[in-house]
Order: sequence, then C-alpha cells, then structure tokens
Amino acid sequence: MSDAEVGQLQRLRAITAEQLADHRPRSATVLGVAGGNGLDAVDPARFDEIVGIDLNAEYLEACEARYRGALGDRLHLIEARIDRSLRLSETDLVIANLIVEYVGVDEFAAFAGVNADRIGVLSVVVQRNDDEGFVSRTEYTSAFSGLASVSSDVDAGRLVEALDAVGFTEIGAVDHPLPNRKTLVRRDFRRRWTSGSSEA
Ligand SMILES: C[S@@+](CC[C@H](N)C(=O)[O-])C[C@H]1O[C@@H](n2cnc3c(N)ncnc32)[C@H](O)[C@@H]1O
Repeated sequence: MSDAEVGQLQRLRAITAEQLADHRPRSATVLGVAGGNGLDAVDPARFDEIVGIDLNAEYLEACEARYRGALGDRLHLIEARIDRSLRLSETDLVIANLIVEYVGVDEFAAFAGVNADRIGVLSVVVQRNDDEGFVSRTEYTSAFSGLASVSSDVDAGRLVEALDAVGFTEIGAVDHPLPNRKTLVRRDFRRRWTSGSSEA
C-alpha cells in the first residue's frame, strides 16, 4: 500500500473512534465492516453489542480472527447485502463509512428508511475527490481493507436530502481533508419520527 492508502485507512480508523466517542453507544452496527478497521476503539466494558455487516465472507473471517478474542460474545458478524430488504436489530449507533459508494444513495436511503425506528444515530462517511476519480490510480492492495474496488462518487448534499426524505435530520458535520486531495466527509443524522407516530 502507498503512504496515502495507509493514511486513509488510519484516518478512517480514527473517525470510527470519534463516532463511538461522540455518541457513546451501548450498541453499534458497522455497515461494510470489512476486516474491522476501527473496531480496536470499541471498549468491551462499555458495550453490550457490536454488529458488523459485510457481503464479503473473507473479510468477515479476518474480522472474526482479529476481534473475537477482545470482544467475545458482544461481536456479531453478519454476511449480508445492505439494501432495503435488510432489517437491522435495534441499535444505538449505525456507522456507515465508505459504504454508500457501493450501495448507492437511493438504496442506502431506502435501507435507512425501513430501519429508521431501530436506529438511534446514523453516522455516515463518504469520500469526496477534489481532483480525480473516486479510486486512486494506485489501487488499494491491502487484504481485507475493503478499499480495492470502491464504486461511484457520492455527493454529500444529495445524501443529506435523501436521508431527510426518509425521516433523518442532520445533527453533525465534520470534514476530514486528506493529504492526497480527497476529503472524508462525515455527516451524522437522527431520526425525526418513528413509524406509527407523526413528525416530532
Ligand atoms: C470501502 S470498504 C469499507 C471501509 C471500512 N468501513 C473502513 O472504515 O475502513 C467497503 C466494504 O463494504 C462492503 N460492501 C460493499 N457493498 C456492500 C453491500 N451492498 N452490502 C454489504 N457490504 C458491502 C465491501 O465488501 C467492503 O468490505
């Protein structure tokens, strides 16, 4: 991996740690968990449950090997495709870092909408390229980083609109510029209403 690639993974790891520290959940669900980048920031003493979801079984095996020892029965790894047919268990925090690029904004919003009453806070990171295509010219070669074939660019403004339309209000925004003219754009959301009730 190039220095930039290593740097990006380290920044994503640090952002996951911030997401956990900011919201202090007892339960969290990590979408596109890959090999578990950032799960070292989970303090087992403060957690009841940490769920990781990914469609890549090999990545999940790597995650299992890395974190089962530290997290024990709290860790639930689920091989599944993230789309509107997937139902989450109730969770304080959903972390979705560099996953909307694969799922697509509309499908991700549909997924969030059908799970809205099971999600406390939804924290999303998308990548903005300031001067080139989404995947850097040198491909990520790290096994289990999950960064090898990132799909299409995501406009954070459109994501905010799509999530707003399914009941999530933006509650926080932080941009993390990287040295390679990319920015990791974090947006946090809380649901406005639950099914069966009117908008708060
Ligand atoms: C760029 S990586 C995620 C990086 C990771 N969240 C981090 O912070 O380092 C994207 C991951 O999403 C997974 N993925 C892509 N599309 C998916 C889908 N529709 N459902 C579930 N997982 C998916 C890939 O297998 C990959 O592990």
